[in-house]
Amino acid sequence: MTDTAVATSPFARDVLAGLAHRPRAIPAKYFYDEAGSRLFDEITRLDAYYPTRTERQILTDHGDEIVDAIGKNAALVEYGSGSSEKTRVLLDALHARRTLAAYVPIDISRAFLFETAAGLRDAYPGLPVLPVAADYTRPYALPALPPETSRIVVFFPGSTIGNFTHDETRRFLAHVATVVGDDGALLVGVDQWKDADVLRRAYDDPDGVTAAFNLNVLRRINRELGGDADLDAWAHEVRLDDDAQRVEMHVRSLRDQTLTVCGRSFAFREGETVHTEDSHKFGPDGLAGLAEDAGWARQRRWTDPRAWFAVELYAAAPGPR
Ligand code: AVI
Repeated sequence: MTDTAVATSPFARDVLAGLAHRPRAIPAKYFYDEAGSRLFDEITRLDAYYPTRTERQILTDHGDEIVDAIGKNAALVEYGSGSSEKTRVLLDALHARRTLAAYVPIDISRAFLFETAAGLRDAYPGLPVLPVAADYTRPYALPALPPETSRIVVFFPGSTIGNFTHDETRRFLAHVATVVGDDGALLVGVDQWKDADVLRRAYDDPDGVTAAFNLNVLRRINRELGGDADLDAWAHEVRLDDDAQRVEMHVRSLRDQTLTVCGRSFAFREGETVHTEDSHKFGPDGLAGLAEDAGWARQRRWTDPRAWFAVELYAAAPGPR
């Protein structure tokens, strides 16, 4: 890319606007370049990061009930499927009973998606795997589904829904409702608000993987936007907001300094931060309330024994939207 093209890329635009704004913020989606995606994968395997394994436990323990609730001949459309690793537990349960009409993994990373799809076809013979390379937060087209398809079920695991603001969540849920239609459903992983120490450890793990993941956004700015961030002069910071039931990540300036991005300079005082992520947690009925606003009714809810995480099934609410 030329310097001008770099400076007008969405990443540059959002970083420059976010650093000029008060409070300073960079959208969390920019964590996920290749290095960031690898670090996130590592996070999901950490002892301290309970969401992934807790959700997997719920899908394992309640697999049969979830399969029953999804119903026969559904097309399962997964948003942000990545390696589809967490879905394997659910696909195992669905495939064992031969109840799935198709699996449609949607991910922005095309090469990885198609490679994963090939592996899934080997693992689940006879199951139509129909990958779609797209950003699921924007309009996209579903592939032609097998004629026996009875309903579309969007699967959105990992509590990625918690990375949206509540307004974004309402808009997102309304959009999913239009994708799945009247008989469709949404199966979603929802992290729960819990003990502060557990949350803090999950987002500030003793191995420093989450710190590296957070600070990677500065490395990315250096790599892609000609940034001059000195990584020794920035720290990972986690804040818990009890009222909003939210874990926030920030990068904190460890001294007075200037950060230059695309030729523009931004002055930082020691202790000033850039807000890099919100991870909303929910009470037992928290997401159901937002979902109702968007035309959904909760049908089922499964949790782990400590109620740290929930997997919830929603269907279109009767009546006008
Ligand atoms: C992707 N998302 C659900 C993760 C979360 O827990 O909010 C991203 C993450 N941030 C720090 N650790 C993991």
